[in-house]
Amino acid sequence: MQFASRLSNLQTSIYSQLAELKTEMEQAGKTLINLSIGSPDLAPPKEVRQVLSEQALDEQAYDYTLTRGTPEFREACAEWYKMRFDVDLNPETEVLPVMGSQDGISHIFWAFIDKGDAALIPDPGYPIYSDGLALAEGKKIPLPLKAENGFLPDLSKLDSKLADEAKLMILNYPNNPTAAVAPASFFEQVAQFAAKHKIVVCHDAAYTELSFDDYRPASFLQAKGAKEVGVEFHSLSKSFNMAGVRLGFVVGNAMVIKALETIKSNIDYGTFRPILQAGTAALLGSGEATIRENQRTYQRRRDIWVDGCASAGWKMPKPKGSMFVWAPVPTEQDSLSFVFELAREAGVILVPGIAFGEHGEGYIRVSLVQNEASLEEAVQRVRLFLQSKKV
Ligand SMILES: Cc1ncc(COP(=O)(O)O)c(C=O)c1O
Repeated sequence: MQFASRLSNLQTSIYSQLAELKTEMEQAGKTLINLSIGSPDLAPPKEVRQVLSEQALDEQAYDYTLTRGTPEFREACAEWYKMRFDVDLNPETEVLPVMGSQDGISHIFWAFIDKGDAALIPDPGYPIYSDGLALAEGKKIPLPLKAENGFLPDLSKLDSKLADEAKLMILNYPNNPTAAVAPASFFEQVAQFAAKHKIVVCHDAAYTELSFDDYRPASFLQAKGAKEVGVEFHSLSKSFNMAGVRLGFVVGNAMVIKALETIKSNIDYGTFRPILQAGTAALLGSGEATIRENQRTYQRRRDIWVDGCASAGWKMPKPKGSMFVWAPVPTEQDSLSFVFELAREAGVILVPGIAFGEHGEGYIRVSLVQNEASLEEAVQRVRLFLQSKKV
């Protein structure tokens, strides 16, 4: 068998090492507290589950919906955007459903990147950005996210030749993995930069609804000129705890949306109709209550983890958004060694920062996806581990 080289260009190694480690630990009879993958443990609104199950019984529900999905779902996305961000969208041309934002983001590269074309990718960054670009055989220009800049890329430091070369830029706030948030002024700066260098901006807004301490993240589309240069990807996975349902949507520039639709219409035949109906119910129905409940739940979890670790001598910033905490490695180890040792000795599984790119080294990512009792237990285990390491 001769595999395509693109297979080996994907960054699966750290995740498979973590999966092997988990199996090894389970076989050794250890009770694990898994704070690695960002899959929500909370339930979607009851109304969403009801719509999904009732509509699935409808004999007429099993046709292809095709890539554009139903007008009702696109209208619901536009209405929700207006309510949440006061941004006007044309549901016919400026909204497209996706099968999770992962689907949309991975395919957007195919619409803009030919072999060797360059894209600006945050480092550290959510892996699909680099992997999607690698599948399109594009060239990555990393945008380093550094603590001293609040984990925002410093666009003024980017070589203008590289900026001119880039066709696409990916951004993501609230950010995975750094949990940083972006002020509206940053998005204004991005829109101007993209117009100047003719770059298509793709803002991954998966975590705008997960924010704390009364902070409400902005939309990139609120920035002046944003709709002329880019789009924003939304996910129902985290906002409404619907990760397994695979539903999201992309909004913004009509030409970018059309290009993505063209790619996707050659790949998929759309989302199951009851899923679109359930998504509409989440956006326009009882979803807001779920968002508020999630915010309270994750905020409590964040405080248990961050305050607990601080009292154990491990200090880290308290994030304003996302479901993650981004913490400096508290020992003299690199991030991978720390994660492996903590897992083997304490049974707490985190993700090494290096898994998100070279600028992630020195950090680890914690996903707040366990209940409060498990998080308290995890903190206790971390405390004993750090005491044994004399931190
Ligand atoms: C930043 C970011 N973008 C996109 C996704 C994928 O979301 P979806 O479930 O909508 O594909 C995730 C999932 O963890 C994420 O963290």
